[in-house]
Amino acid sequence: MTSNQNLIDRRDRVVCRGVGRVSDVTASTASGAVITDVEGRPLIDFAGGIGVMNVGHCDPEVVAAIREQAGMLLHACFHVATYEAYVALCEKLVAILPHGPSTKAMLVNSGAEAVENSIKIARQATGRSAVICFTGGFHGRTLLATTLTSKINYKIGCGPFAPEVYRLPYPECSDFDGPAAACVAAGELARLRAAFGNTVAAENVAAIIIELVQGEGGFNVAPKPYVAGLREICDEQGIMLIIDEVQTGFGRTGRWGAFEHYSVVPDLSTWAKSMGGGLPISCVLGRGEIMDRVTPGTLGGTFGGNPVACAAALATIKRMESLRLNEVAAQCGATIRARFEALSTSVPEIVNVRGLGAMLAMEFAEEGDPGRPAGGLVRQIIRTCCEKGLLVISAGIDGNVIRVLAPLVIANDELERGLSILEDTIRDYTCGPAKAGVKGRK
Ligand SMILES: Cc1ncc(COP(=O)(O)O)c(C=O)c1O
Repeated sequence: MTSNQNLIDRRDRVVCRGVGRVSDVTASTASGAVITDVEGRPLIDFAGGIGVMNVGHCDPEVVAAIREQAGMLLHACFHVATYEAYVALCEKLVAILPHGPSTKAMLVNSGAEAVENSIKIARQATGRSAVICFTGGFHGRTLLATTLTSKINYKIGCGPFAPEVYRLPYPECSDFDGPAAACVAAGELARLRAAFGNTVAAENVAAIIIELVQGEGGFNVAPKPYVAGLREICDEQGIMLIIDEVQTGFGRTGRWGAFEHYSVVPDLSTWAKSMGGGLPISCVLGRGEIMDRVTPGTLGGTFGGNPVACAAALATIKRMESLRLNEVAAQCGATIRARFEALSTSVPEIVNVRGLGAMLAMEFAEEGDPGRPAGGLVRQIIRTCCEKGLLVISAGIDGNVIRVLAPLVIANDELERGLSILEDTIRDYTCGPAKAGVKGRK
């Protein structure tokens, strides 16, 4: 049997260091919400492969569908030969996520590819080139997606970046739909209107792309009135509203899409991660008349909508329906939120608890001063949690946010045990014996 250290050493010898590593954890097998490392040690998984495993690791029905499809058709290329799994998946997607009276879909392999294709669709549909995105946004690692991404650590040395991308501040607000939300929305919508005079002309803007809950950006939730205003402005100006649901989608917020919490329907949306139950697949959904303005041959790719990945996605969605995963997510989220909020009353370093449904996070700052993000503290907490058998990851421009993306099928006792490990570790580093060891942690 190989050891964890041996596998990490082998990795370091042959894998490019540009492929980041956020933990020393290894993975050999996984089931439900538990990953077992190469030494046979189980870890409760609060990361879900970064939001991919909403339906749980190796769900038996998903695995059976993969096996069955793999024995029938592994690949044909959808541009060359039409196969049932691709069409059936698009039928299912447009049925559960309608974008107006007629909706169409196209399939690719990753979140970044879905984002790239959504911009290509918006540009062709409008005949315009500019795209507006947001601070804190993350849209992937291909060149255009990297350009749309905000955090500098993800793009250092990777330029020159794609032209015609303009960034505005994300409307950060802890209030979802109350007076503070209305106030932030009014200010940020005025800023957007002003940007049409001082940054980019509205008639040149093809699309505005936004995450309604920023994933890598730290689980910031867009206020409801802001998104309603964005919809109005896009309608007025003929701009495509693209909602990036790659991390929020497929049950994470307690709905198929986060946009269902807002009384707004996007023109285009992007989906990946938990859609495939662990296999790489993604899609763009859009209003039919927009999707049909696109020239044949300008979208897609050799592997886009691979039959096995389509079968996995179909089985995943069916399983999510039978497990009523959206309702489960709401309950799971309520448990996490209650424990995070209770903890925050006794740990001054926790300056914010936020999120939507089961997409929840805690933000840390030195001595409770929001101006001093505590990324070093978060790194130590996460490392210690991994040693104690809980795999959890950070988020945020300053890495000072601990986020939970646990499989939604997590058993109650596993969830409570994972939360206890996290709480005990946080207490230890903020008011317990480990506190002294975090001096100079920045
Ligand atoms: C909101 C969002 N969009 C796009 C992406 C890129 O997805 P992928 O890593 O599959 O390319 C991510 C990945 O974390 C994401 O969170």
